[in-house]
Amino acid sequence: MGRDSIEVVASSVAGQQSFDGELFPLVLECRTASAELQSVEQWIHDSRVELDQQARQYGAILFRGFPVATDQDLDTFIRAFNYPNFAYQDSLSNAVRVNRSERVFTANEAPSDVTICLHHEMAQTPVYPSRLFFFCEQPAEQGGATPLCRSDVLFDRLLGEFPEFVADCESKGLLYTNIMPAENDPTSGMGRSWQSTFRAETREAAETRLKNLGYSWEWLPDGCLRCTTPVLPAVMEIEPGRKTFFNQLIAAFHGWKDSRNDPTRAVTFGDGSVLNPATMDAIARIAEELTFNVPWQKGDVALVDNRVVMHGRRTFSGTRKVLASLVAMDA
Ligand code: FE2
Repeated sequence: MGRDSIEVVASSVAGQQSFDGELFPLVLECRTASAELQSVEQWIHDSRVELDQQARQYGAILFRGFPVATDQDLDTFIRAFNYPNFAYQDSLSNAVRVNRSERVFTANEAPSDVTICLHHEMAQTPVYPSRLFFFCEQPAEQGGATPLCRSDVLFDRLLGEFPEFVADCESKGLLYTNIMPAENDPTSGMGRSWQSTFRAETREAAETRLKNLGYSWEWLPDGCLRCTTPVLPAVMEIEPGRKTFFNQLIAAFHGWKDSRNDPTRAVTFGDGSVLNPATMDAIARIAEELTFNVPWQKGDVALVDNRVVMHGRRTFSGTRKVLASLVAMDA
C-alpha cells in the first residue's frame, strides 16, 4: 500500500470571480483516480506551506475530487495541514453546533429557510479563527451554496465609493450588541445560550467572563442576556497596503434577527453613533456582486482564510450536511 504521489491541478468551476486577472476562489482538483487518503495526507503535508500562502493570496481554495467521504476522512485531511485547532467550546460564537470529532462539527444548525449573511467568522468577538474548513458531506436538493466574498476587494470598492464611512470605520471601530437566550434555541442562527457561550452555569460566572472580555451587559426579565462588546476594529490590515473589511457589519445589520434580536440595534460605531441604513444596504449589494457561491458537490472541501474572505449560507431544500472546522490564530 503505497503513499503514491497524487496529481493535483488548478481547475475551474462555473461562476468563479476574477479580480485583477486572479481567479476567486482557487480550485484544486485531484486527478488521480481512486487516490488513497494516505497519499492525500502526504501531499498536503508536503504542500502545506504553499497551500497556506495560496489560501491567503486567493482568499479561498476549493479542493475537488479528493477522497474525502466521511467526517473522519475530513479530520485526517485537516490534520495534515498542522494548523492549531480552534475549539467551539472556547469560542464566543452565537451559532448552535454539534461536534463530530474534536475538530469537526456541523456548520450552523439554523433552519433551511434562514439565510446566513456574509460574515467573517466571529469578527464580532475579540477571539476569532484565522482560517476555516468547510466540507460537503451531502449537498442540498436545491440551494444551500456557501457564498464567499473577498473582503479586501470589498474594502477597496468601499474606499472608492464611501470614503467617509470607511474613515469612520477605521477611526471609531464598532460595538456589537446581541441578546442570548437562557437555553439553546435551534430555530435561530444565533441561538446559542449565554451559558454555553460563556461556559458558565451561573450568572456570576458569566459576569466574571464578561468582565474579563470587556463586555457590558444587562439581564432581561425573561432570563436572556443582552451584552455589548468592547469597541472592536472594523478594518484589518493583513499585510502592508492590503486591508480587509474585517467586521460583522453586513450580518449584524441585515441578519441578526430572531425572536429576541432587532438587527437595526445590533451594531453601532464605537462612539455609539448609528450607521446609515442606506450605506449599509449599498455595502451589502456590493458584497453580493463580488460573491462566489460554492456549488457544493459531495466530497468538496474548502479552505477559507477568515481574515481575507467572508462566508455565509444560502437557503436550501432537502437535507444539507456541511461540516466545518476552525483554525486558531498562529501562535
Ligand atoms: Fe460562519
